[in-house]
Amino acid sequence: MEIKKKKETAEGGKMEKIISLCKRRGFIYPGSEIYGGLSGAWDYGSFGLSLKNNIKNSWWKKFVEERDDMYGIDAAILMNAKVWEASGHIAGFSDPLVECSKCHSQYRADQIGFPPDHFQNMKKGMPSISYVFVPPKCEKCGSAENWFSPIMFNMMFKTNVGPVEDKGSVSYLRPETAQGMFVNFKNVMDSFHPRLPFGMAQIGKAFRNEISPRDFLFRAREFEQMEIEYFTRESEWEKYFESFRTEILDWLADIGLDKDSIHELEVSAEDRAHYSKRTIDFEFDYPFGRKELLGLAYRTDFDLSAHIGKSGADLSYYDEETKDRFVPHCIEPSFGLDRMILAILCEVYTEDEMGGEKRIFLKFKPTVAPVKVAVFPLLKNKPELVKKAQIIFSELKKEIRPIVFDDNGNIGKRYRRQDEIGTPFCVTIDFDTLENDTVTVRDRDTGKQERVKTGELSSFIKNSLK
Ligand code: GAP
Repeated sequence: MEIKKKKETAEGGKMEKIISLCKRRGFIYPGSEIYGGLSGAWDYGSFGLSLKNNIKNSWWKKFVEERDDMYGIDAAILMNAKVWEASGHIAGFSDPLVECSKCHSQYRADQIGFPPDHFQNMKKGMPSISYVFVPPKCEKCGSAENWFSPIMFNMMFKTNVGPVEDKGSVSYLRPETAQGMFVNFKNVMDSFHPRLPFGMAQIGKAFRNEISPRDFLFRAREFEQMEIEYFTRESEWEKYFESFRTEILDWLADIGLDKDSIHELEVSAEDRAHYSKRTIDFEFDYPFGRKELLGLAYRTDFDLSAHIGKSGADLSYYDEETKDRFVPHCIEPSFGLDRMILAILCEVYTEDEMGGEKRIFLKFKPTVAPVKVAVFPLLKNKPELVKKAQIIFSELKKEIRPIVFDDNGNIGKRYRRQDEIGTPFCVTIDFDTLENDTVTVRDRDTGKQERVKTGELSSFIKNSLK
């Protein structure tokens, strides 16, 4: 029932409304906009960046700082091309590309209705089977009969390191942060001597030359990942896979995603990445359908073994107690940060009526809200109110951040502006403040106002923000 309701909202153009609000209110802008944009690239404005940082910090706190078995890392984006040979990305990190022979528009074939089995065979290097199927229509020219045969297109962005553009200088922008952790496994072992199980965690940019970037932040060409490579004995992988599964769900609830909007999909063997023996996709009900939010994979010892084979480095683990040497196995929770932001925006975007007027507000959990409090003098042209408001703003800012000061336009407009960026509380300084040192605190969701003594304001808000 819930899903149906969301689909109806989608028909009302929910995505377009969210994209428009993001631009209008300084969350997210189209990349390189004044030059007509660049498909699949998005720029974060002040509030978008604050939201992003809040999500990153919450993730880092839960999965790294609050644990004793995690080692953070920030590896370089450019890596030796041999990394991608060993990891299998040069050979196999491809999507099926089809081109309309009439208008030359290009598409990811599986996204527009070509049968998936066709490409699975291509990925495995087998000849494709002939299918009898109704060919999809070209989204641009409408032709259904004119398709060139699909080819497999490698999604890594190629570049050259140094001034000479030859085979030896080829490098790639990383398509996943994961490999930066596998290649540093030995460094972390040598520096910290961790005991199994332990993990490495990284937040950083990843790049994929997606054939058809679409759905706002959902499929971008430049995006951020928050990934963990958790190393364990082979015999224990299931135990840690299960514990991450629970922790992922807990964290998604922590940042305000409704558990009814999250669905686990056991990925079939044919659809799993080449390195995975088990994958669960955590999907979210976006306005454009139920799609992947993040993945949890059992990568076995595939990556460490592949790097041992290619580099000759010793990436094994020696167990002092059992006197046993072996290559650890790996569990990988992989979160797309931009997809997380998109899911949160979709979850919190709300329309209602207040005081007889339609309003839009973002029902962020206070912990992720980009601005926690806004402070207003009731009237801009009353210096005594403005002065008092500035004092209260400065005092509050010592305790709670980020907060904003706004004296622009009538009070109703200022409330609407804060509602649209999801500020949980607005504090108004009025003539009563000058008399009895109390202010009104307005709650974003209900619009209810409460009078609070200025001396108790910061603790009142701090308690309400929890
Ligand atoms: N290291 C494993 C890995 O990269 P993946 O399923 O290809 O696995 C992990 O990607 C996550 O990265 C996805 O679940 C998604 O959240 C995010 N992601 C992948 N491609 C993306 C894209 N083009 N745009 C935005 N996010 C993307």
